Amino acid sequence: MRFATKAVIISLALSAGMAFAKEGVQDATVKARMDLMGNNALNAGILGGMASGKTGFDASAAAAAKAALIANATNIGAKFEPEVDDPVSEARPDIWMNWEGFLEKAKGLETAAGAIDVSSLEGIQAGMGAIGGACKACHSDFRAKK
Ligand code: HEC
Repeated sequence: MRFATKAVIISLALSAGMAFAKEGVQDATVKARMDLMGNNALNAGILGGMASGKTGFDASAAAAAKAALIANATNIGAKFEPEVDDPVSEARPDIWMNWEGFLEKAKGLETAAGAIDVSSLEGIQAGMGAIGGACKACHSDFRAKK
């Protein structure tokens, strides 16, 4: 496997792990957007697991994960539009100061998830880099580590 793919899978696994650290969230709107992101991690993890050989290739599970990522990406705008904060939120104020830029990153995920070919293991391996890159592109501009 190419190193880049491995790195993406590792970082996705790490961010999936982080989702469990957010149990103290109080605000329902913030919780809903975190849940969307947790679902992103779950579905990227399903594709990443297949790409790395950790789990076997399963065309229908891969298609479902792809569909979930596309649906999540289209939903990011609605879930993040209300500007609310929570002590455990990692959302940066830049989201609402640069709303168009934030939506562009959501579109980037929609495009990458739409482009992945889930009909073969090779297709998944080839498309994972762009998906992981789309997550990272938004996180590095709009998500803070607290
Ligand atoms: C358009 C921007 C954007 C994209 C694209 C994006 N994220 Fe996020 N993500 C965020 C922001 C902002 C937060 C912080 C939300 C908060 O804490 O209020 C976040 C938080 C998370 C969290 C932590 C959730 C929690 O419970 O605290 C995980 C896990 C995550 N993202 C995974 C992913 C994965 C995997 C992808 C790609 C498949 C992805 N994200 C794509 C913006 C994005």
